[in-house]
Amino acid sequence: MIYDYIIVGAGIAGLNAARLIPKDKRVLILCKMSTWNSNTFWAQGGIASAVDETDIPAHIKDTLEAGANYNNLEAVELLSKESIPTIKELIDAGMNFDKKEDGSLAYTKEAAHSRNRILHASGDATGREIHLFLLEHCPHEILTQAVVCDLLIQDDICYGVQYFTSEYEQKVAFSNNVIIASGGVGSIYKYHTNSTANAGEVHGIIAEKNISLKDMEMTQFHPTVLKGTSFARKPLLSEALRGEGAFVVDENGKRFLFDYHEDGELAPRDIVSRAIFDYNKRTGLGVYLSFENFEKRAFKQRFPNIYENIKDLGYELPFENVPISPAFHYCMGGIEVGLDTKVKGFKNLYAIGEVACNGVHGANRLASNSLLEGLVFSRIAVNNSLKENFKISKENYTKEIKVYTRNKNIDKEIKDDLRRTMWETAGIVRSKKELKEALERIENYLKLDVGRLLYLRLLTARTILKASLKREKSLGAHFIKED
Ligand code: SIN
Repeated sequence: MIYDYIIVGAGIAGLNAARLIPKDKRVLILCKMSTWNSNTFWAQGGIASAVDETDIPAHIKDTLEAGANYNNLEAVELLSKESIPTIKELIDAGMNFDKKEDGSLAYTKEAAHSRNRILHASGDATGREIHLFLLEHCPHEILTQAVVCDLLIQDDICYGVQYFTSEYEQKVAFSNNVIIASGGVGSIYKYHTNSTANAGEVHGIIAEKNISLKDMEMTQFHPTVLKGTSFARKPLLSEALRGEGAFVVDENGKRFLFDYHEDGELAPRDIVSRAIFDYNKRTGLGVYLSFENFEKRAFKQRFPNIYENIKDLGYELPFENVPISPAFHYCMGGIEVGLDTKVKGFKNLYAIGEVACNGVHGANRLASNSLLEGLVFSRIAVNNSLKENFKISKENYTKEIKVYTRNKNIDKEIKDDLRRTMWETAGIVRSKKELKEALERIENYLKLDVGRLLYLRLLTARTILKASLKREKSLGAHFIKED
């Protein structure tokens, strides 16, 4: 059998694409772990959108400024212009965003936005609410615990995918269209805010096939995660907290961010992350988030999930300061695609959301533009592919289908070292010497007989390290210090 669509990934981009593909199409959605284990589910702050037509120029300007003007202007214009009809379509389909008392949409502010334009749902559980909405409205089959380990690529056509099932069996599925929406790479870093499912294996497949991965050195670090927990995924303290008045202070209560940027807490994310990292390193002082501006009832009402999560971890907000540090958050780079979301050089292969790179985020993504990107470009992918109605002929795929080993005994130790190496070298502040050493280390691991998934992660790490070495001057989130 041939599917009409295979969608790799079940976060906002994949599920929104699935929602928009007509019911009568044969669609298979491959979800690597369980459906809630996705970055979308954990997104707190919200989703950016131009508030109305008059806000589009300002949204574009803010996105470009945060992105160090390295963005693809056309992609930014498209994102902002499409934000209004895209959000309207979602609301018309039944998605509820928080409203003000007068019934109009409640917009909040986040760092580097020149006005309030972030929609949110259930206070600070925007990602979860959108995710649940999309799952509820998904008319197609979702296969969980299905880990993609190869793409069936021949010439300029993708014939389908190869994946491991929950029983570690290998299966092949053919499809007329393949949409990659597999998210980011956070799990190859020691400290990150991502779902554990986001380990960049699909990026590795793309690298293996010499398909273009663009801007992979552009990795973003969120300034404020709770420090000191042993979880792989660090608890996030949303941008919206600073947007609504939380301060970053040292252990003596001093606000120091204005020494780094005139906008202090509301400076772009890369600047705030680097400032926290640098201040802590230089002074040895701990860094905290302070909520002294908040009144308890209002805080609990606006940020109910953060309140409960942080309480469970031993802090009573808004009365106590909480220790923070930056952690890996988002990959601006990814599979090179055009504005039509097609992977460069392919007839029926699409990439959308965090895994894709059309240049919209430039060198540093503006807060809350990622959920928006997932929605906007999934719509474009579905519309284009429906129009083109591409069909494959299974018989034309003549390549050998390989048999892979999913995991090997030596993998655990290498995985841990990979995460440490990436955090310490391809991190907030980089040095050429350390990047070179790290690359050598990864090259050596690639010579070992490791499992397929680790092999793919190593390829992804190698791509990030190589791209970081290639960009010799600092730009946005990529910061190179003198050796
Ligand atoms: C947050 O709530 O701080 C995350 C929002 C984002 O990554 O854009």
